[in-house]
Amino acid sequence: MKVIIINGPNLNLLGKRETDIYGHQSFESYFEELKINYPNMELSYFQSNVEGELVNQLQQVGFSYDGIILNAAAYTHTSIAISDAVAAISTPVVEVHISNIHAREEYRHVSLITSHCVGMLTGFGLKGYDMALNYFMKTSF
Ligand code: DQA
Repeated sequence: MKVIIINGPNLNLLGKRETDIYGHQSFESYFEELKINYPNMELSYFQSNVEGELVNQLQQVGFSYDGIILNAAAYTHTSIAISDAVAAISTPVVEVHISNIHAREEYRHVSLITSHCVGMLTGFGLKGYDMALNYFMKTSF
């Protein structure tokens, strides 16, 4: 089963960025743990700070992969282009947020992406990615 994790802007700074909110672990190190915990899955990881690159990546994998785990970060709240890309592709997408976006500033309460996703995990820290992978592992298409 091929699953990709796609992270949006500033998530390359995990471990250094606002550690009270996002924790101390880098995503690269967490990704290594995921690969060990899901040996039977073909996992890949893509991160970009650039909106169009996220759209390109969604289009590239969105008709052949079995699952996409998407944390579009700040673009979650603003990007019609990413929302349209998620709506356009056939691969199921699970939206993940490390923090609980509903417990933060009001402008983070809206996601333009969720309605095109299987579901959304928010507030479980990095474990949200693990939970999303677990969903794909236990779901047969
Ligand atoms: C985030 C929440 C967003 O509001 C924020 O802009 C991020 C990260 C999260 O994972 O909690 O960059 O998506």
